Amino acid sequence: MSYQSFPKAELHLHLEGAAPPHFIRELAGEKGVSLDGVFDENGAYAYRDFGEFLKVYEAATAALQSPEDFARLTTAVLEECAANGVVYAETFVSPEFCGQRDIVAWKEYLAAMQEAADKADRELGITLRGIATAIRHDGPEKAKQSALCAAETAGDWIVGFGMGGDEMAGTQKDFAYSFDMAREAGLHLTTHAGEWGGPQSVRDAIVDLGVSRIGHGVQSIQDPTVIDLIKAHDVTLEVCPGSNISLNVYDDWKKHPIQRLRDAGVKVTVSTDDPPFFHTTMTREFDMLAATFGWADADFDEMNANALAAAYCSQATKDVIAKRLDRS
Ligand code: ADE
Ligand code: ZN
Repeated sequence: MSYQSFPKAELHLHLEGAAPPHFIRELAGEKGVSLDGVFDENGAYAYRDFGEFLKVYEAATAALQSPEDFARLTTAVLEECAANGVVYAETFVSPEFCGQRDIVAWKEYLAAMQEAADKADRELGITLRGIATAIRHDGPEKAKQSALCAAETAGDWIVGFGMGGDEMAGTQKDFAYSFDMAREAGLHLTTHAGEWGGPQSVRDAIVDLGVSRIGHGVQSIQDPTVIDLIKAHDVTLEVCPGSNISLNVYDDWKKHPIQRLRDAGVKVTVSTDDPPFFHTTMTREFDMLAATFGWADADFDEMNANALAAAYCSQATKDVIAKRLDRS
């Protein structure tokens, strides 16, 4: 039994990180871009740890050079998501890789991605929204420029501002200015925390940045006071179990805390993060959760309901997605 055709909503998906290896190779070939060290002998993304993962991730983006490339990427990613039953996704997309934080260029990239997303919505029944994303290890100054791009384009499609990258670089508070700017522009806020930085990083994200969702957040399980804080602020976790296991945050699926977080009363959702890097799909995430923890239809309905409640799109869009997720 596979959950492939079960409808799904996914909140934590990096657009560049979802690029299939063959797609990046083809683009690089067209442009004569060298991708030394990006792929292993089997053609998969090559990395041994999180540090190498971040380097390979950025190296692969060298093939993505224009709004047209990002439109093609959007189409390829949405086709893969739709084939795995995803009817709604939010994607991290970075002004860094889309015109290096130049607002005019960023708007051109966004227009191209949005056109591709609208076409996929019409033809495949999958809706996409964007979360403009800063890269933590690039530092607070570049984050401010990314936040400005996000603020300038806040609206129906760019619905959130987020931060990924090396969680051990600086503190969450170093980025408070950027998150304040995004909040004032009406954007919803999320940041990667508690993937590598322990429960304190999650506390900082809630207290210093005021986010409504946390990317990963799984290490909160180590501190009951952080669990209480998450619940008190009604924060939802974007949990990506397959990513955590591939990157060795946990040794295996049985050790993953997603069920313990649920038992503790935390609202969790399920996402893939960077599916081809981690050899996963939303189908595989659901299937592995079913195999490991005995989750059944009602558990996955709860994941979808949590995702819909915490989604950053408008209520009108949520109403459409709710119908697609309703299996009755
Ligand atoms: N960027 C893409 N994937 C990421 C992850 N798992 N953690 C931090 N930054 C990322
Ligand atoms: Zn991520």
